[in-house]
Amino acid sequence: MKILFYMPHADAAAWLHDFARALPEADIREWQAGDTAPADFAVVWRPPREMLAGRDGLRAIFNLGAGVDAILGLERDVPGTLPRSAALIRLEDGGMASQMAEYVSHAVLRYLRRFDEYQTLQAERRWHVLEPHPRSTFTVGVLGLGVLGAHVAQTLASFGLPVRGYSRSARQIDGIATFAGDAQFDAFLDGVKVLVNLLPHTPDTEGVLNARTFSKLARGAYLVNVARGGHLVEQDLLDALASGQVAAATLDVFREEPLPPDHPFWREPRIAITPHVSALTLREESVAQVVRKMVALMRGEAVSGVVDVERGY
Ligand code: NAP
Ligand code: GLV
Repeated sequence: MKILFYMPHADAAAWLHDFARALPEADIREWQAGDTAPADFAVVWRPPREMLAGRDGLRAIFNLGAGVDAILGLERDVPGTLPRSAALIRLEDGGMASQMAEYVSHAVLRYLRRFDEYQTLQAERRWHVLEPHPRSTFTVGVLGLGVLGAHVAQTLASFGLPVRGYSRSARQIDGIATFAGDAQFDAFLDGVKVLVNLLPHTPDTEGVLNARTFSKLARGAYLVNVARGGHLVEQDLLDALASGQVAAATLDVFREEPLPPDHPFWREPRIAITPHVSALTLREESVAQVVRKMVALMRGEAVSGVVDVERGY
């Protein structure tokens, strides 16, 4: 079994070591520019086009993340880049769901308990008790009820908050009010106090966090975007903050990453910024998941997590 590996900014030696330990018979190498030698599997994160183009013998491409927007972008820009022979398989959870639940819970509880406002008061040395937010109307709306969104929604519901979820096809999740499809989008948004985005970035979801969406939320709503920067119309968020329609936002992902030093988001105290860390790819869990699926594919068995390229996720 020949495996190609590519993950920029990662400790490639450690990944190769862990794959070699799990698959002692395999021949695994880090892809370098100009390497066109045959491979059965590619294990990648944001690969360059030349790594995949023309690799007709490839059986599967394992994406070392949940989101496949970057790799599908290669195919959209130059159709035929992804070898027809290869299934595209994404990470399913792999330790990301619990990280995402921690991150989003922290943001939601910070707004619910007004910790961000107490931080401002502390800076002013002011001892002042703020009116608590009524829990019964502090409705959290989670966009996307997949592997991550469903876990996040259930975690938030465990705090006793009213939680809604939105997906493409109808879903049923205990304790969550679910909505599906374009026809139910406005009903989902109506009066939501915290909007959490966990949609995949596809042509259908591009720019979904926009002025119209914000206008349907409760006045003084909060936004938590942990999916992709391309979901957010940035100027619409700044305008909604200026008008008070949105009170604050927690953003982990941006249209341009790293976020440029002169970007206005850095100067907006109501925006909390993290550098795309809400759910990191964990080596141990990811290697175990990918290896399990490689072995299944070699045996001719079906695996989960295969991306529907047409649908875009
Ligand atoms: P997933 O399991 O594929 O779930 C996607 C969910 O979005 C599904 O519920 C799907 O609906 C729904 N959806 C897709 N297109 C839709 C549309 N047009 N309208 C309404 N609903 C739509 O994905 P996941 O594993 O939960 O990951 C979600 C995203 O999180 C990834 O794509 C990635 O961009 C992001 N992410 C970010 C980080 C980070 O560190 N910031 C880490 C990991 C992942 P159906 O249920 O009907 O299919
Ligand atoms: C990270 O952003 C991922 O999609 O896994």
